[in-house]
Amino acid sequence: MLAEKGNTFFIHTFGCQMNHADSGIISALLQEEGYVQAEQERGAGIVLLNTCAVRENAVERVEHFLQRLQGQKKREKGLIVGVAGCIPQYRREEMFLRYPAIDFLAGPDTYRTIPSLVEQVRRGGKLASLEFNPEETYQGIEPARDGVTSAFVPVMRGCNNRCAYCVVPFTRGRERSQPFNAVLLDVQKLVASGYREITLLGQNVNSYCDVENGYDFPALLDAVSREAPLARIRFTTSHPKDISESLVRTIAFRPNICNALHLPVQSGSSRVLDRMNRGHTIEEYLDKIAMIRSVIPGVALSTDIIAGFCGEQEEDHQASLDLLSRVRFDSAYMFFYSTRPGTFAAETLADDVQESVKKRRLQEIIDLQNHISAELFQEAIGTVVEVLAETESRRSSAQLMGRTAGNRAVVFDRELYQPGDLLQVRITGATSATLTGKPVP
Ligand code: SAH
Ligand code: SF4
Ligand code: F3S
Repeated sequence: MLAEKGNTFFIHTFGCQMNHADSGIISALLQEEGYVQAEQERGAGIVLLNTCAVRENAVERVEHFLQRLQGQKKREKGLIVGVAGCIPQYRREEMFLRYPAIDFLAGPDTYRTIPSLVEQVRRGGKLASLEFNPEETYQGIEPARDGVTSAFVPVMRGCNNRCAYCVVPFTRGRERSQPFNAVLLDVQKLVASGYREITLLGQNVNSYCDVENGYDFPALLDAVSREAPLARIRFTTSHPKDISESLVRTIAFRPNICNALHLPVQSGSSRVLDRMNRGHTIEEYLDKIAMIRSVIPGVALSTDIIAGFCGEQEEDHQASLDLLSRVRFDSAYMFFYSTRPGTFAAETLADDVQESVKKRRLQEIIDLQNHISAELFQEAIGTVVEVLAETESRRSSAQLMGRTAGNRAVVFDRELYQPGDLLQVRITGATSATLTGKPVP
């Protein structure tokens, strides 16, 4: 049966992996009520934007979408536009005034209300559902998933840290965790459906805690890796101050937990880290890196770094460059500081690094990191690595793209392999972002 247009929906997702997982939850909730997910936005009766507020440019992207949808609403009678996720939670009802295209707003804790918001909007009016609910973990909802190889499993939500620059605690609320057994049940289902890679997600995943039953994150990770022995297990994101030796030993000990850690540092200067309220110095960070490398030799490390935070001097910036050279991360997400109204930094610190200086410093960070990543890629040539095949390569159907345990993309000759296969690949070449290779029988 063909779905009626009014009952079809399309979700555009912005932001982090958690937001992508949340779009799967929203989709499942709508489908439970009889709505049908459309393949593309064109022709869908309900368009949802699941949004990110972490930097100004993320907000600007959504603004462009809303302007375009405003025009579209004039042409398409009955089109419903909803905005979900971190921007409405943060900017609240003022969004209706700024963006007339919006019919309803829903925050990260109120996705369960979306089907009824749609119904109510149909009867007329604009609605917002933006209450925080520190109990909400969306337990029992199986998210709709795109791929058949890799799956995200949110295990905790929210953030109790107060990094001075960051809006996430304001958009996601307090930390709360899924019960241990509920996570294991989700993992069992994924195993039964043939998933080969499971990524446990949380804004602060190593703050995971099932208080009632006394399980922490290392215990959960260990149990998940045993429940899914043939799948690769990953997790993100970890705060450096919460990385424990017990977690690192769990990664080292369990063969199917990928030897990879994303450990956002934000700055190489202890003075800046203090202003950022990160809760550790750069020496403590480097001690953790040394501990991790001694327990997991060859571990792939990645990080996040911000250029031009309030009060950052040239020597602080130099300390960030020095840190990159010292640690030699596999990869990094690099940003210039974007002031977020309402955060501690916006309220109390001057955003005093000129935009041109922020951009120049960011470019220096990017250039250095690209150079380091390229060197590490060159060093990989000639080695044999385990790759999980994910998709057909974008360039040619005769090749597949997959990833190493350290999260490096590898393009290799397809031969008789299929997405979902785990195979050995000899690396024969490297471009700036991808390794190339041939399967080893
Ligand atoms: N919970 C995760 C990250 C959340 S946001 C963590 O703590 O690691 C992802 C990244 O965005 C952060 O690590 C930081 O590098 C960057 N970021 C956050 N707020 C920012 C801001 N105001 N300006 C620039 N980058 C920011
Ligand atoms: Fe933001 Fe810090 Fe929480 Fe990460 S740990 S989400 S950077 S406040
Ligand atoms: Fe963005 Fe919200 Fe994730 S602000 S980074 S979508 S938690």
